[in-house]
Amino acid sequence: MCGIIGFTGELPVKDILIDGLEQLEYRGYDSAGIAMLDSKTGLIVKKKTGKVSYLREAAADIETDATCGIGHTRWATHGGVTDTNAHPHRCGKVALIHNGIIENYRELTVENGLKEKLVSETDTEVVAAFLDKVYEGDPYQAIKKVVKKLAGSFALCIMFEDHPGTIFAVRNVSPMVAAAFDGGSIIASDITAIINYSKKYFVVPEYDILTLSKDGIDIQDMKGNPVHPEILEVNWDVKSAQKGGYPHFMLKEIYEQPDALRNTVTPRVKNGLPYLLDDGIDDAVFENMKNITVVACGTAMHAGLVGKALIEARLRIPVTVEIASEFRYKDPIIDSDTLTIVLSQSGETVDTLEALRLAQRKGSKVLSLVNVKGSTIARESDYVMYTHAGPEIAVASTKAYTVQISAMYILACKIGLTKGIISEEEAKSFITELLDAGAIIEDTLKRADDIKRIANTIKTAPDVFFIGRKIDYTMSVEAALKLKEISYIHAEAYAAGELKHGTIALISENVPVIAIATQKDVYDKVISNVREVKARGAYVILVSMDDVIDDKKICDAQIRLSDVKEEFSVFATAVVLQLIAYYTSDAKGLDVDKPRNLAKSVTVE
Ligand code: AGP
Repeated sequence: MCGIIGFTGELPVKDILIDGLEQLEYRGYDSAGIAMLDSKTGLIVKKKTGKVSYLREAAADIETDATCGIGHTRWATHGGVTDTNAHPHRCGKVALIHNGIIENYRELTVENGLKEKLVSETDTEVVAAFLDKVYEGDPYQAIKKVVKKLAGSFALCIMFEDHPGTIFAVRNVSPMVAAAFDGGSIIASDITAIINYSKKYFVVPEYDILTLSKDGIDIQDMKGNPVHPEILEVNWDVKSAQKGGYPHFMLKEIYEQPDALRNTVTPRVKNGLPYLLDDGIDDAVFENMKNITVVACGTAMHAGLVGKALIEARLRIPVTVEIASEFRYKDPIIDSDTLTIVLSQSGETVDTLEALRLAQRKGSKVLSLVNVKGSTIARESDYVMYTHAGPEIAVASTKAYTVQISAMYILACKIGLTKGIISEEEAKSFITELLDAGAIIEDTLKRADDIKRIANTIKTAPDVFFIGRKIDYTMSVEAALKLKEISYIHAEAYAAGELKHGTIALISENVPVIAIATQKDVYDKVISNVREVKARGAYVILVSMDDVIDDKKICDAQIRLSDVKEEFSVFATAVVLQLIAYYTSDAKGLDVDKPRNLAKSVTVE
């Protein structure tokens, strides 16, 4: 929910921190701030509400020789969006930034008599005050003492005024990666702020204390033992984390979907069949399984709905799709016969992470589909299938969604084959179609201008309805979220056959209804539902694979998809619905990549 960065080396640190915060701004942008250690004036702290660009302006006149500093871009959890609540928080000799939630900050304040030291409403400042209170000249001992008392999630970067050139760091649950390179040492919430300096990095181990200096990074566990984490290598380049000429990250990522799908599917096909051994997933994982539970949040959960529709239709294996934040508190009915599939683009969504842990406590094996290598969910799963969509920067998830669907499709094919439900021939035919999904998307992207024109017709609507049946209904659920989260138009998904049981009362003159009708066995049913809303004055946009329908009693506009096998229509439909949301938001002049109130990775509950 927040972006943090720390750098220490030989270079002037101010712009390094602010440039890095700009790379991390998609993680939250309510406010931003930096703290630097100047050789003469000591700790300098500058922080501002608003985007990083406001901080850059506010810090422009700061003259300093500092080569060591920390920076933070905030998504508010405790305390409003104010300059005082912005990070870094300084207390005495300590300056500190934090991503996460300290659940016992009130108790810590009372137990340690910190109230008088506090000026903000944040949980983070309590940690700074606590540290300053216990600090007697040894940062490692002070940090150890405080961290042992913290409850909740935290990624902390800390500076002590009397330790120039040095940054300390420690984490629990909230993400943090770091790298030492010939220009110094850097630490951040994720690799997008690091790849400018180093492609080699490591995930900061939980509850180990890092000391970053210009000469490298020292890591000790709580007992003082040295720690040497695995060094990972990022295969993303700086460019791939930039917009690449597109007006927004979201549009770039929509257009990256064909490659993202090929990069995710192709390495998992051998001799025309699904192949998961390179992922460390052997057939035994599926042989013993009797049912499947999918757990995720938001768009990831919607990808799970698509996977459910396919698995149940083709394999006749029951699949339950759970909202992670509900799953965690309902004492779910799962056991060792259940395979729990966890989906997460960021691999850091705390509701999904805690759901994963609950599933494991109940004896279920967890297989996760994750886009960020080395993320917490990936590391805690029993099995991981990384999706290879590359960095997804826009808050609204697009390419992660379609690659998650493709990964679910690979899994479905593998499960069917392993359990003898489908033949090798059927599996090969399915995989051939799946390998073609990228081309389906490329073909659909050719309709972008038509879709843009249609988006313009709904941009002033207060409400929009998406309807569909079967797998098209699962697509409408995702479509509604996409439109809501970036255009701020109220949108609702409805099972087409359910409309007449109440919601059709909301249909009046010109209310836009986007009907998805790609499933042949229920096509006529959907068209009759469309006629029902049309008869009540709705403005109907039909998304279908059939010929042109030139009948105003059915639809006012039509987006025709290429005629593909029904289960694979989802790749075309997804792109249409993503572009409708994108162009609507852009036509309204909104910040498509950073919609209000949202952040890319929800690492708080
Ligand atoms: C998607 O457009 C949203 N930004 C959001 O629903 C997101 O899918 C959800 O927070 C899950 O994130 P994850 O995939 O990183 O776990």
